[in-house]
Amino acid sequence: MGSVRWAFRCGSWMPSRSEWLHAARRVQPEEKERIGRFAFARDAKSAMAGRLLMRRFICEKMQLPWSEIRLERSPRGKPYLANPPEVTTAALGPDEAYWPWSFNVSHQGEYAVLAAQQGLQVGVDVMKTSATPGSSSVSEFFRVMTRHLTTREWSVIRSSDSERQRLAAFYRHWALKESFAKAVGTGLWGFDLQRVEFHLCPEALAEGRAIRRTKMHLDDEANEEWVFEESLLDADHHVAVAIGPPVAPGAGPLASSLPPPSPFTLLSFSDLISLAE
Ligand SMILES: CC(C)(COP(=O)(O)OP(=O)(O)OC[C@H]1O[C@@H](n2cnc3c(N)ncnc32)[C@H](O)[C@@H]1OP(=O)(O)O)[C@@H](O)C(=O)NCCC(=O)NCCS
Repeated sequence: MGSVRWAFRCGSWMPSRSEWLHAARRVQPEEKERIGRFAFARDAKSAMAGRLLMRRFICEKMQLPWSEIRLERSPRGKPYLANPPEVTTAALGPDEAYWPWSFNVSHQGEYAVLAAQQGLQVGVDVMKTSATPGSSSVSEFFRVMTRHLTTREWSVIRSSDSERQRLAAFYRHWALKESFAKAVGTGLWGFDLQRVEFHLCPEALAEGRAIRRTKMHLDDEANEEWVFEESLLDADHHVAVAIGPPVAPGAGPLASSLPPPSPFTLLSFSDLISLAE
């Protein structure tokens, strides 16, 4: 029951021109063109890192040569592998089954991350917990975001002692919601975020350790089909991974039977491209 959690620190990645060209030659032409249209180098680097993470993952874990990987997007923008390799099940025992991989990437703040899971739906979201995009203050930011969280979630956020902790609590909820919306593939704006409510576990998040104790309520009912992994990449970056039932019934394990979660492994640029021809 395979599982992958990788992170790349794209914020401190300062590629030389030749390194950037090297990377650009290793993604599909339409992605290279899309990345080339970003106005800010920061956004281009994050998007490039996301593509390289996916390709490295497919090459290593799905055993498809780099040059044969063809990534496409669903109508709502979720990338998927259009040409998964044929899997030979001859080596499997009578009670073993092959479960297809799901994967998803996220990039925000200093990091790009990839989460992949065999046999189960997966969505990931990384959030920099110290920013208030588009707003001049935390209270103004919370006002703009009011309708996306439930009354209970806001009361948990507002019960934190300091502004910094309130912002971190907000992003903890936000990343959980977004990881779910990304796992089911709708993205944020195709889904009423009030339908999911998170009941955070009281345990504080820590670097280098993932926990899976927060619970989701869907349409006011406690949901046991989905599990959520949470961890900190560093003091300012929170990641949530949503793991849900198999895409097709019976085509994977139960999310509740997973082995204990592992933290994200930090990859270097050389790691990202080492399997590229
Ligand atoms: C696109 C969306 C799925 C995620 O957007 P995001 O939070 O900006 O971005 P993330 O870094 O978490 O994820 C982006 C990656 O998710 C993947 N993705 C795109 N659409 C997706 C979808 N419908 N479902 C799952 N994954 C998707 C892509 O790989 C994308 O990266 P790429 O386009 O460079 O390949 C969508 O939910 C959205 O539009 N969000 C808006 C975010 C926002 O306004 N946030 C407010 C700040 S608090």
